[in-house]
Amino acid sequence: MRADITVLPGDGIGPEVTAAAVAILREVGRRNGHVFEFSEHLIGGIAIDTCGEPLPQTTIDACVNSDAVLLGAVGGPKWSNPQARVRPEQGLLGLRARLGVFANLRPLRVHPRLAGLSPLKAENLVGVDLLFVRELTGGAYFGKKSREADVAIDECRYSVAEVERVVRRACELARGRKGRLTSVDKANVLETSRLWRETTERVVAEYEGVSLEHQLVDSMAMLLLTRPSAYDVIVTENLFGDILTDEAAALAGSLGVSPSASLGAGRLGLYEPIHGSAPDIAGKGIANPIGAILSAALLLRHSLGLEDEAHAVEVAVDAVLDSAELTRDLGGKASTTEVAESVLAQLTRKQQAAA
Ligand code: NAD
Ligand code: IPM
Ligand code: MN
Repeated sequence: MRADITVLPGDGIGPEVTAAAVAILREVGRRNGHVFEFSEHLIGGIAIDTCGEPLPQTTIDACVNSDAVLLGAVGGPKWSNPQARVRPEQGLLGLRARLGVFANLRPLRVHPRLAGLSPLKAENLVGVDLLFVRELTGGAYFGKKSREADVAIDECRYSVAEVERVVRRACELARGRKGRLTSVDKANVLETSRLWRETTERVVAEYEGVSLEHQLVDSMAMLLLTRPSAYDVIVTENLFGDILTDEAAALAGSLGVSPSASLGAGRLGLYEPIHGSAPDIAGKGIANPIGAILSAALLLRHSLGLEDEAHAVEVAVDAVLDSAELTRDLGGKASTTEVAESVLAQLTRKQQAAA
């Protein structure tokens, strides 16, 4: 097949980890006879420095005209002055809104070799296999913002239609898994959460084979640490999803291994690791590229429909996690490029074994 992939490296470790993910995609294309065309564009802090805005029109045009978008990370101390007129993060939020990618999938499994790096006891991590579906284009992130002398307001708004479409997506995904959906809200306090809960109950009732449980977000934050293997698909609003998925990522041993796929109504998706630009390690060549590489696997699966190729990348990553070729965040000494090369070598071995 032929596919146009827009690459947005962004800031900090973004360029380092996206280079690794692109190398994997190139190899997958070469081996399987696909033609992947990559075009790089600016987003975030580097776009502010180059053209004064975090999401230039040329970047938007490239993204909407491509089959998939692969993003590194945006932001960093250079652009973090609270008084700044524009921020790198506005570029990312603007892109999510412009692409209409309302469902952010953040899968989380704990590789047995990494269980020892988690703050939880390894025995509590057996069988953890979570899929967060985070609403991505609504809530407090996108509500009206205002600031007066000593008051600031972030409006949190959700419509029935916004809740319905993300819950439907979560139900479809739950049907292909264990069929257990947990919806997380704060319905004992927030009106948006009461609307979320009512709508979720109505939508889930349409899906045979999907069971629904509600949890309040404060309690869910605790349950993720005490009973992480008890959950399957967890659907929640934008801000709760942001917080809970970083918490859950710590169970997997490092923020550096978690991927994400942001999907809308069509096939075009935005793929990015869940970590940020990691300014503390940027430019050193030691960032873990696995979150970005697994995001490339999600790109193959969800935007290009290449399930076998996506699975092959995931199997290769698992094999690398079994080896000693790990970056520092996972207790190893390998560089970003060494890990990427190990994944490439595993892809080759698996293909030779299959031939
Ligand atoms: P962060 O995720 O960048 O870093 C948190 C910690 O995790 C740091 O110690 C970092 O070194 C480590 N880490 C993260 N990714 C890693 C990787 N791949 N390999 C090894 N270690 C890794 O979060 P932060 O420090 O709170 O944020 C830094 C900047 O990134 C902020 O400007 C923030 O807005 C931005 N950010 C961007 C995105 C995105 O672009 N999607 C996501 C989160 C944060
Ligand atoms: C994420 C990030 C972003 C978010 C920031 C950088 C805007 O934390 O992708 O999780 O809050 O959505
Ligand atoms: Mn986040």
